[in-house]
Amino acid sequence: IRVSGGLIDPDGGKLVELIVEESMRGSKNREALSLPRIKLSRIDVQWVHVLSEGWASPLTGFMRESEFLQTLHFNSLRLQDGSVVNMSVPIVLAIDDDLKNRIGDSSKVALFGSDDRPVAILNDIEIYKHPKEERIARTWGTTASGLPYVDEAIKNAGNWLIGGDLEVIEPIKYHDGLDRFRLSPAQLRNEFTSRNADAVFAFQLRNPVHNGHALLMTDTRRRLLNMGYNNPILLLNPLGGYTKADDVPLHWRIKQHQKVLEDGVLDPETTVVSIFPSPMHYAGPTEVQWHAKARINAGANFYIVGRDPAGMGHPIEKRDLYDADHGKKVLSMAPGLERLNILPFKVAAYDKTQGKMAFFDPSRPQDFLFISGTKMRNLARNKENPPDGFMCPGGWNVLVEYYKSLVPA
Ligand code: ADX
Repeated sequence: IRVSGGLIDPDGGKLVELIVEESMRGSKNREALSLPRIKLSRIDVQWVHVLSEGWASPLTGFMRESEFLQTLHFNSLRLQDGSVVNMSVPIVLAIDDDLKNRIGDSSKVALFGSDDRPVAILNDIEIYKHPKEERIARTWGTTASGLPYVDEAIKNAGNWLIGGDLEVIEPIKYHDGLDRFRLSPAQLRNEFTSRNADAVFAFQLRNPVHNGHALLMTDTRRRLLNMGYNNPILLLNPLGGYTKADDVPLHWRIKQHQKVLEDGVLDPETTVVSIFPSPMHYAGPTEVQWHAKARINAGANFYIVGRDPAGMGHPIEKRDLYDADHGKKVLSMAPGLERLNILPFKVAAYDKTQGKMAFFDPSRPQDFLFISGTKMRNLARNKENPPDGFMCPGGWNVLVEYYKSLVPA
């Protein structure tokens, strides 16, 4: 696989790829059938996917205890040569007491998918305690009940974590019609190289694209051209793994993003739309570091960050869980992200005097309308229209269609 050219080097210098060669698939499959088995959840499979393609380079599998502790306590990993890469979110696999006993002193286990087929082998395993409360407190900064990822993937998970080196038997596919949008970091790097990109700027999102988001992206392109780059390429990289129940499902978001390109809000010539396979934690300033780090591995050397990245409402209090400015502040100082150019943006809101989304001007707050995610969802659900200029009509119709599909006929 052709890597780099003029692109930023992956963390650790070399892009990790953990999928076994095609000629080895048969024998690895047979080996897996002979090993102790771990059945993967949907979210576990998403992490296998993330690891298998090197989004988490230089990680070569689920974290062992030393990696887990460095992640929790330092938000970074120290490599053998002394250098530091960012790693802020634990990528771990939990097992219960029963399974731990069954694994016994085997040095390998097989990871099985929901269809009872082997997905991967985990080698040189290490089993260690799963300190759930500490993991939750350090990752989210709170143990308040109602954190979506915690409820889904941690609360009822086993009391042990199992780390090791992954060998993934074949590329992870979902057969949901969207696999063609799931480019791996290696494929993205090839795409950027074949487009002769001299800068790659990434935009992480889990929401439909409104014109405020678009403003951040078009303004970045303008800034990069002013800085002297000739061909900056945008990586529009919607998150494709687990999201909370009231977020818009992936296939509707992809539909919406396509309309945004069709309607000319973003330029298809200079934009690559591709799915980022990670699950979502909603861990604010801690998680945004993961979002940025993973995009270095995909070849991005610029990263856009705006208001309250990876944020959400506090699960039990009536306020945002995180300070809306902390994400961008933390990102600009994060250990191991020194090579990434962070592009912080002010909050965008609807400027009533101009009839469009613009950067909020604190000297005339009365002119601005803040349309939160909740407000946007409510408008679409009630088939009401947002003010003209909030979102392109094609994109908005997709949302209205989505909410229509939820209402029983
Ligand atoms: S996230 O969980 O992926 O961060 P979202 O899809 O809402 O959430 O946001 C994607 C990116 O757009 C993030 O960098 C976020 O900070 C930024 N963003 C979202 N809304 C606004 C806004 N109104 N003004 C400025 N930046 C915003």
